[in-house]
Amino acid sequence: MIALIVAYTRNRVIGNKGQIPWRIKGEQRRFKELTTGNVVIMGRKSYQEIGRPLPNRFTVVVSNTASFEAENCTTASSLPEAIKKARELQPGKHIYISGGAGLYKEAIDMVEKMYITEVDAHIEGDTYFPEFDETLFEKTIDEQIEGEIPYTYVTYTRKG
Ligand SMILES: NC(=O)c1ccc[n+]([C@@H]2O[C@H](COP(=O)([O-])OP(=O)(O)OC[C@H]3O[C@@H](n4cnc5c(N)ncnc54)[C@H](OP(=O)(O)O)[C@@H]3O)[C@@H](O)[C@H]2O)c1
Repeated sequence: MIALIVAYTRNRVIGNKGQIPWRIKGEQRRFKELTTGNVVIMGRKSYQEIGRPLPNRFTVVVSNTASFEAENCTTASSLPEAIKKARELQPGKHIYISGGAGLYKEAIDMVEKMYITEVDAHIEGDTYFPEFDETLFEKTIDEQIEGEIPYTYVTYTRKG
């Protein structure tokens, strides 16, 4: 299964100045639950923000300027190559495309599911999740979490 996973605000912001511009305790729980034991594909800037491969899962970094090789990490020069490597090196694992903006834009047409955390706030940023045709997907609301900044886990599943 190929999916994408993202958190964005009411104004579709995913990042600002290379970072995620909110801190909400527990908000990344679903990311951890879904991706652990599986494969994440991320752009070079997102990877460098984290600074290391995430534990207990395999990371494919997409980059044409740098190479990241470790026991649980490799590099690819495009999204299709990253998916091919993930399938070869980690057969049978789920693949989660984890940003940033360019990879999400390319991935929307490829993925079966989009795991989205809707952050219920308007937050300034410089990086956005692209607009997409919502009619192509079935939307389910999985969990609503209250708090200073409420958020909702939703899933979009491609129709047909
Ligand atoms: N809210 C969320 O869920 C979420 C998730 C992820 C990231 N973010 C945020 O998003 C921001 C980073 O995203 P970003 O869009 O600026 O950068 P990014 O996608 O993480 O990294 C961009 C770099 O990745 C490589 N790349 C991306 N797409 C490629 C492609 N199709 N083919 C080849 N190489 C490709 C290129 O690396 P080279 O220049 O090395 O060739 C490019 O410069 C940060 O603020 C981060 O915190 C938020």
